[in-house]
This record gives sequence, structure tokens and C-alpha cells, in this order.
Amino acid sequence: MTEHSKLPVPEKGEAKPRESLIERAAGRFDFTRLSRPAISIPPVPLVRPVAPPPAAPVKPVDPVKPATQAASAASAAIPAEAPAQDAVVPAPVLFEGPRHPIDRERLRDQGLIVPEGAVTALLEEFRIVKRQLLMQAADLRRQNAGAAAQRVLISSPHPGEGKTYCALNLALAIAAEKESEVLLVDADFAKPSILSTLGLPGGPGLMDALMDETIDVADCVLGTDVPGLWVLPAGDTTVNDSEYLSSSRAAQVLARLTEGTPRRIVIFDSPPALAASPAAELAKHVGQAVVIVRADRTGQGALEDAVSLLDGCPNVQLMLNAAQFSPSGRRFGAYYGYSG
Ligand SMILES: Nc1ncnc2c1ncn2[C@@H]1O[C@H](COP(=O)(O)OP(=O)(O)OP(=O)(O)O)[C@@H](O)[C@H]1O
Ligand SMILES: [Mg+2]
Repeated sequence: MTEHSKLPVPEKGEAKPRESLIERAAGRFDFTRLSRPAISIPPVPLVRPVAPPPAAPVKPVDPVKPATQAASAASAAIPAEAPAQDAVVPAPVLFEGPRHPIDRERLRDQGLIVPEGAVTALLEEFRIVKRQLLMQAADLRRQNAGAAAQRVLISSPHPGEGKTYCALNLALAIAAEKESEVLLVDADFAKPSILSTLGLPGGPGLMDALMDETIDVADCVLGTDVPGLWVLPAGDTTVNDSEYLSSSRAAQVLARLTEGTPRRIVIFDSPPALAASPAAELAKHVGQAVVIVRADRTGQGALEDAVSLLDGCPNVQLMLNAAQFSPSGRRFGAYYGYSG
């Protein structure tokens, strides 16, 4: 994402069809050196809007968008295959906890997408990225990838490159979809930050459900007053987080998060891939991984190492974050096109 606080006002006539942040990231980093056929950048065709986006404010959707509603909508970002006549469709796992208010001003202060807010450059950037990810999810479903099709891992080589920032914005963008909902999972067990960023109360989370078989992970999910947005806290800390994530129980717990809800997308905000192992473990459970590359910080070597660690995931993509002006005044990665 561009450093939105420094986002330039475009010159008249400057706007032009742009590459998405995923495409721009591919252009800035040498992916041929990774020589990994599993990686495709970008993996899905970019969908460019043919008409201008709707004017702000975005029409509020129903305050309650239960999973059943998302699952039964006729048209969807992730087209649901018609189940075979005799297929057993599991009952949807609904998240029934109280809905907590999210302070929109707080989101604005942190440079995050504000639900029901104006259509900003930031929102537009994440809309494009979201569309790519949703299309890839639909492709994965068609390829019978199972629940992994609905899971997206956000990672990066190092701390501070914008994983949480991008995971939050992506979740907020997907929550605005009419027929999808999103569960944002704080999978940075050692340094969780989703709850504090959103101003949500603490509580048990994913790691608790992995450690204790009597805990139903669905009971740990927090509702929010942002329609379609749910949050799963990281839960208790343990020195064995990787072992729990690689256990057979992990597969069951994660499966529960999308059971009977084909339109639910699960986004995992992970710790840095080069600093902690959970990202690599989670990569084995997801259909897509997005590696955040911070324009001014991430190096090619670190990127290659991180992508290599995530090779449990068949689709690894890059996303360029925090592109800024160069001293010369030229800029790269800004909303209105690459010019660096
Ligand atoms: N594009 C951006 N524009 C403005 N601020 C940003 C941008 N990307 C990240 N930041 C800010 O940079 C800081 C670090 O980002 P963030 O916490 O998302 O990184 P992280 O990769 O999750 O770090 P960690 O590995 O420590 O969890 C945060 O204060 C965040 O708000
Ligand atoms: Mg983080």
C-alpha cells in the first residue's frame, strides 16, 4: 500500500490504468531468481473496474450479515459450486458472540480503511488486491482445494513491513463484499496486535483452541459492528506454537472456521517468516500466501528466504507496501501508476 499519509494529489490527466500492488511488487523484485514454478505473479488476471467506483458513502449493508446469509447468496465473489445431490453439506458454523463496536476514528487515525467511509485511494488499492485474491480463491475451489481455498496467509520476511496493516485493510475491504464475510485471525502468537489495533477486548483464541480440545474455536471468535467482519484472537502464548500448528488438531480447528460457510474468507496475520516458524506452518494450511514487501526496506535476499520458507503454500504472491516518494520527486507504487 502506498504511504497514504503522503499520497500525492494526482496531477490533472495523470490518472491511467494501473498495475495492482501485486503486479508492481513483481516488477520490483526479481522473481525469476526464485525459480519456483509454484509461484505465479500475479496468479489471476487483474480485473479492472470498467466504471468508476460508487460514490461515498458506501451504502451500509445489513448490520447483521450472518454466515448463513453469506453462504446462501445467489451471486458471490467466490462462486459456490452446486453440491452434488447426495453430498452431505455440513451445517454452517456460525459465530454467535456479542458484536463489539469498532471505533471508526481510531481506524482513521491508524491509516486504515474506514467502513462506510469515503472511497479513498487506499480503499481502491485494497479493492483491487481483494478482487485478485477472491478470484484466486474461486479458482482454488474449482480445483477442489477444499477449505484451503478460503484461507489467505499474510506474511513478510521481517517485522514492521506492514503485515498487520495490510491484513486489517484487506479484511475490511473483503467485509464490504455483499456476499462474502471475513474472519481475521491474529496468528502472531508471540506479538499479537489485531485486538489492540481494533480496540477489541481480549479473550481466548486460536492457540487456546489448539491446546485444549474442550474449547470450540468458534466460541473464541469476536463479532464486530462492521458487517461481515469477525476476529479470532491469537490466544495464549506458548513456546510450542509451531508444534501445535502442525498437529492434527490444527487441521480440525482450522476446518471448523469455514465449515458449511463457503463464502467465508479467513485471513491469517502472521509473524515475520524469517523470525518465527508459525508462518511456515500456517502456509501448509492455506491456498494463498501474500508476502508483504516494504518498498523501502525489504531486500531481495530476505524475500527469497521468506518465500522459500512458505513453500508449503502453492500460491505465493508479493504485495508492495509503503511506496513513497523518491528524493528526486519521482515516485513508485503510488496509486496513479508506477513511475519509479
Ligand atoms: N502503507 C502504510 N502506510 C502507513 N503506515 C503504514 C503502512 N504500512 C505499515 N504502516 C505502519 O507501520 C507500522 C508497522 O506496520 P505493521 O505493524 O503492520 O507491521 P508488521 O509487519 O505487522 O510488524 P510485526 O512483524 O512487528 O507484527 C505500523 O505502525 C503501521 O501502521
Ligand atoms: Mg504485525
